[in-house]
Amino acid sequence: MKVPQIDLWAHHEPLMAEFRQAFERVVRSSQFILGQEEKEFEFEAASYLNVKHAIGVGNGTDALAICLKALGVGPGDEVMTSPFTFIATAEVIVALGAVPRFVDIKPDTFNIDPAKIEARITDKTKVILPIHLYGQATEMDAILDIAKRHNLRVLEDGAQAFGATYKDKKVGGLGDLTIFSFFPTKNLGALGDGGLITTNNDELYEKCRLIRVHGSPKKYYHTIIGQNSRLDTIQAAFLRIKLKHIDRFNELRIKNAEAYNEELKDIVKTPAVHPDSNHIYHQYTIRTSRRDELKKFLNEAEIGVGIHYPYPLHRQPVLSYLGLGEGSFPEAEAAGREVMSLPVYPELSEEQRNYVISKIREFFG
Ligand SMILES: Cc1ncc(COP(=O)(O)O)c(C=O)c1O
Repeated sequence: MKVPQIDLWAHHEPLMAEFRQAFERVVRSSQFILGQEEKEFEFEAASYLNVKHAIGVGNGTDALAICLKALGVGPGDEVMTSPFTFIATAEVIVALGAVPRFVDIKPDTFNIDPAKIEARITDKTKVILPIHLYGQATEMDAILDIAKRHNLRVLEDGAQAFGATYKDKKVGGLGDLTIFSFFPTKNLGALGDGGLITTNNDELYEKCRLIRVHGSPKKYYHTIIGQNSRLDTIQAAFLRIKLKHIDRFNELRIKNAEAYNEELKDIVKTPAVHPDSNHIYHQYTIRTSRRDELKKFLNEAEIGVGIHYPYPLHRQPVLSYLGLGEGSFPEAEAAGREVMSLPVYPELSEEQRNYVISKIREFFG
């Protein structure tokens, strides 16, 4: 039996008739940039996330860059973040001439360890950028409390956490700004690139909106240096269709995760969920010291798995200039050696899931 890590065709096939209608609607309207569908999507996404403003942008990476610019981050400023994330989180900091100031993660949730943040704050620190990794909300109360006491802003990377909650509130309106990615494999994915910024802050909303369209409050009139990063109207139309099903998609992920937990908890480290967070399992990530052998064994059995992420950011060649050697962030480094994400996508059948479980049990004998 073949079990891919993710099956996008199984995910999209039942929605094809609606996608076709949406495609025709957008082409007939001839509105391809922003336009009505995009406005509707921003409104529906903001309502779903229970946040005042949503701004559709080109992708999650641009969303991060726009937010950092809106927060006034520039050369020499420091942004605190986790070294255990996708490169985009740190890349945008560096691209603005700022410095990523890493803080190690908690080994159970893989999210930034709030207890380690304060010791790393300097007089150059401007922003804390926590990631809701794998779809689990990070410990926001502790982070917001530190930010308040040190006069820092909080930008959340929710690229993997659309629909996740913290203390029963949806991720998206907890800090100053939040970003989401609609990369096709994300738990809410477009049929191409896409991203979103959300905020309850009117001033930051206006700034982000300006930055996404060349700093232009009206046509051919520019007040700040911006960029060009808008959510395509066609992607907004597709996302409106998928947004209607996001709770069901997330529930199916959770159902798969709970079944894995039950069957695997005695042989590998299954994901820990913080009592204040719900986990929507964008990724279902286990830990084992025999990760590489297990990956090879599962791949030979035609089971797709992902490694998110093998190299923590402070060990990436591109960031070697920071001089952060082996041992700088031991939890992130250990996680990089041990993590493995199993297929958890909503359409995974019980038969496929049981096959994955049986192969893992067979591996451990
Ligand atoms: C944690 C995290 N941040 C940022 C991004 C960047 O999003 P995008 O690929 O839409 O630019 C991603 C997605 O790949 C991500 O996983």
